[in-house]
Amino acid sequence: MIDNEIKTAIKTLKDGGVIGIPTETVYGLAADIYNKKGIENIFKTKERPFFDPLIVHISEISQLPKLTKEWTKSHEKLANFFWPGPLTFIVKKSENISDMITSGLDTVGIRMPDHPKTLELLNELGSPIAAPSANKFKMISPTRAEHVQAEFPEIQVIDGGDCKVGIESTILKIEENKVIIFRPGMITPKMIKNVLGDNMIIEFHESEVAPGHLNHHYMPKKPIVFNVIDLHEENDKLPEELQVSLNSWDLPQDSTLAARQLYGKFRELDQQKGPGIKINLTTKQIEQDEFKGVINRLIKASSYFLPKKFSNKT
Ligand code: TXA
Ligand code: MG
Repeated sequence: MIDNEIKTAIKTLKDGGVIGIPTETVYGLAADIYNKKGIENIFKTKERPFFDPLIVHISEISQLPKLTKEWTKSHEKLANFFWPGPLTFIVKKSENISDMITSGLDTVGIRMPDHPKTLELLNELGSPIAAPSANKFKMISPTRAEHVQAEFPEIQVIDGGDCKVGIESTILKIEENKVIIFRPGMITPKMIKNVLGDNMIIEFHESEVAPGHLNHHYMPKKPIVFNVIDLHEENDKLPEELQVSLNSWDLPQDSTLAARQLYGKFRELDQQKGPGIKINLTTKQIEQDEFKGVINRLIKASSYFLPKKFSNKT
């Protein structure tokens, strides 16, 4: 029995509309990949430029051959281990995927999200969906249905509760014995090596290849500054009186919690009175593999820099 929520969503998708969907990372703004009007609608609704390509979401491995021919043993091993889950592969696209989805690139991002409602929707629809995060371009990604509904009151949002991961998927590309991470997330190099073996070379190449990776992104309206608590003298040279009045947050020591709370905190701190947001964190957090995704989002959300000491490390 399909419930009415899913039925209504499928009708909208088939008519070329967009809907909000829950995933384990962040909520997505979804359209059927084979519906041109739907894909156009994603860009229109999000006010997203066409040069920023979309991720394709599937619910079954059997959907892959229609989307890509590039599927090696390494892809298979990682997908078996991490899917459904917060991992996106960049692979050569097949001719079934429109240039609008990939912004004219010959590669496409594919992932299988880990949320029962979205997996059910995908199964019932029978075709993959493209879904960027369900926020206006450059704004904070949504981690609850209410966030999406507030930004896009006119669309249907399937309520799947709070996102358990909280930041967007790790995006990577595999080249023989090398894994290139375009966007860090909660699946870390160590976790990838555990599956593919220690011989795998792992590199981070962020901005060059992923066109969507602009310097400023995920931004609250208020400025964010960093307070590296064990490095006091090198922190942002903001006047003391301003520093004390900032809305501050101690980044949790546990990276899973830090990721899960991050965007919700941005929203909450943005609404408080102070003139800006201060993130209290430690050198250890900045340098740990597990925090790479969280630190990456913090840097993109901030108008200030981390102290110079870290400039080549993040
Ligand atoms: O967790 C996620 O990945 C979420 C949920 C909704 O699945 N989606 C998401 O989508 O974060 P979006 O559109 O906000 O970010 C996708 C990123 C963009 O920065 C884009 O540049 C990059 O993926 N991307 C997509 N296709 C690519 C490609 N062929 N090559 C390089 N980067 C690509
Ligand atoms: Mg996004």
